[in-house]
Amino acid sequence: MPRLYNEDCVEGARRHIADGTVDLILTDPPYGIGGDKLDKHYNRDESFVVGGYVEVPEGEYGEFSREWIGEAVRILRPGGSIYIVSGYTNLHHVLNALHSTDLYEVNHLIWKYNFGVHTTKKYVSSHYHILFWQKPGGAPTFNTYCRYGDSETGQNGSSLNYLDREDVFVINREYQPGEAKNKNELPWELLSKLISYSSNPGDTVCDMFLGGFSTAIVAKGMGREPIGFEISKNAFDMGMERFLAVEEGEFLGRLRVPAKNRRVNGGKPWTDEERGIMAAILGTRPWETKKDAIGAVCEALGRGKWGVENEMKRLGLAVAKPLEAPSGPVSVQTTLDTR
Ligand SMILES: C[S@@+](CC[C@H](N)C(=O)[O-])C[C@H]1O[C@@H](n2cnc3c(N)ncnc32)[C@H](O)[C@@H]1O
Repeated sequence: MPRLYNEDCVEGARRHIADGTVDLILTDPPYGIGGDKLDKHYNRDESFVVGGYVEVPEGEYGEFSREWIGEAVRILRPGGSIYIVSGYTNLHHVLNALHSTDLYEVNHLIWKYNFGVHTTKKYVSSHYHILFWQKPGGAPTFNTYCRYGDSETGQNGSSLNYLDREDVFVINREYQPGEAKNKNELPWELLSKLISYSSNPGDTVCDMFLGGFSTAIVAKGMGREPIGFEISKNAFDMGMERFLAVEEGEFLGRLRVPAKNRRVNGGKPWTDEERGIMAAILGTRPWETKKDAIGAVCEALGRGKWGVENEMKRLGLAVAKPLEAPSGPVSVQTTLDTR
C-alpha cells in the first residue's frame, strides 16, 4: 500500500511519519497568490479548492510556511535534504521559516522555464526559486557524478558535469495538450535530476504537497520509496490513478548513464606511494610540455589536474625539461666508432 495520504500535510506527517526517517523532501507548496479567488472560505478543506488545488491566503502564508517546514525538519533524517520550489511573491516567508530552523542552506537554485507569464508593461516572469537545504548531524547524499562523469565534455570542450551542476537550471515545462494536470505540475526532467543527485534507490522521498503526484510518480519510477500528502480529494484521486499506473523502477532505464570517472581518487588524501609514482613520472624522462607530464600523472593516479598541481607545488616537484637543442654548428660524426 503506497504511503500517500489525502490529508493535510502537517497533521498527516504527525500521524504517519516518525522522526528522522525521511532521506529527501522535494516539494512545491501552494504559492499563496490566489488572492481574490480565495476569499474567506479558506479552511484547508474542499470548500476552498480552485480546480482541484487548495490555495493559502496571502495573509496566512508566513504562519503556514513555519508550520509545515517545522514538520518537515522533524521527519528529515540527519544529513537529509529538502528542496522547496517557490515563486518570488512569498519567497521571503519560506526563507524566513527556513532560517528559523536548524537546517543550513546548500544552494539557492533558479529554475528557468518556458511559457512564462505573458506581460506587456513589465518583464516576463519565467523562473522559480528552488531552495536546497540540509539537516545537520548526518552524512548528506550528493551524487556528484550520477549524470555526467568527470571527463565528459560538450562541443566547446566545457565540462558537462560542471554545466549540469550550475545553479541555474534551464528546463522546459512539459506541455501535453488536452491532458488534465494539476496547476504548476513539475517536469520529469527537473524531478529526476534532483532525485538523482540527492537520493539513492530505496531511499524515502517525501512530497508534503503532492498536487498531480509528479514527485511521487518520478520517485517510484526511480526505485525510491515515495511518501506524501494532498489535501484536495479531487487532486488526490486523479493523482493516485496516475501513480498506480507507473511501475516501480520503470524510469531507471531512462536515466542518463555517466561515462566512467577518470578522477576516481580526486579529493582523497595522498599516499606516499602515489607521491613516489608522481615523482618518477615527472622526473624520469624529458617531457615536451608540462601539460603532458601532468596529464600522465593524472592518468596514472586517477586524480585531477588541480590536485596534482597542488601536490607538486607542496612537494616542490618540477617537470624534467626536454634536452636543450645544441646552439651553434653541429658536427656530424661520419666515421664508425669502433670502441
Ligand atoms: C503547487 S501544487 C503541487 C504541484 C505538484 N508539485 C505537481 O507537480 O503536481 C500544491 C498542492 O498542495 C495542495 N495543498 C494545499 N494545502 C495543502 C496542505 N495543507 N496539505 C497538503 N496539500 C496541500 C494543493 O491542493 C495543491 O495540489
